[in-house]
Amino acid sequence: MLFGLIISAFVFLVIYFSLYTFLPTSWQTPGSLPLYVMGLLGTLLLLVSILFIFAKRTVHLGLPPVWLMAHVVAAILGMVLVAVHTAGKLTQPPALIFIPLIGLSFVGVLARLTVSDKMSSTFGSRYQNFGDIDEYRKIVLRQIIFKKKELLLRVYPNASEGTFSLQLLDWCLKPGFAFSYARLEREENRFIGARRALPLIQAYWRWMHIVLALLFFIGLVSHVFTVTFLAEYIAEGREIIWPHFSF
Ligand code: HEM
Repeated sequence: MLFGLIISAFVFLVIYFSLYTFLPTSWQTPGSLPLYVMGLLGTLLLLVSILFIFAKRTVHLGLPPVWLMAHVVAAILGMVLVAVHTAGKLTQPPALIFIPLIGLSFVGVLARLTVSDKMSSTFGSRYQNFGDIDEYRKIVLRQIIFKKKELLLRVYPNASEGTFSLQLLDWCLKPGFAFSYARLEREENRFIGARRALPLIQAYWRWMHIVLALLFFIGLVSHVFTVTFLAEYIAEGREIIWPHFSF
């Protein structure tokens, strides 16, 4: 499904840009009404796509796979529209925004394909290998897990310690619980050396994702700011055909 979507988007763009010279002039002119609208819609879809991830993390009752699918579909569609918006001017500075965007998708797809599988096997085997670790560690780990279960029972009586993970809403609405639970999780991870044991990409992909998303956001805000408030400078003497403020 994921690869089908990516390949369809790619094939569409290849066909679109190979027929480029046959398109009406407005579709070949950056900043024209249709291309401006494509940029706005594409960006909107990319932003909505981020909201789906937040929904996945904040709405306890939501179905994670549905939110994730919505996230992926909106992101791919958004990228296609933004690619159309660029009018193929990939050597111009705003095209740099694509670099973190492509990096984001790459890390996202890689994480989806490798991390979740490996995570479950790493953590699955973690407790299957429980027998391999010494008595002392076993006792301490059991104590930590017992404390986690106790804490969880008070706040989410139906949740299971094995599958529960803290959500954004917990930090907002039940900060005391979230703080104590996160502290126990950190203790547990330190104890089993989880972060050290996980390959680099597994341990840090979330951070890579966040840094790339920030770079993308900075690029996007700068681009929107310059075309809107410094339109004369961007147009370099051409007629300014898009909505802007002049001073
Ligand atoms: C991920 C989002 C975006 C990317 C990657 C992107 C990229 C680009 C690129 C490569 C160009 C062609 C530059 C040129 O011909 O010199 C361009 C032009 C333009 N973009 Fe965007 N853009 C994005 C979002 C937006 C948004 C949200 C707006 C609306 C506020 C916007 C407004 C414009 C305008 C008005 C132009 C024409 C400027 C010119 O003729 O130089 N873009 N964009």
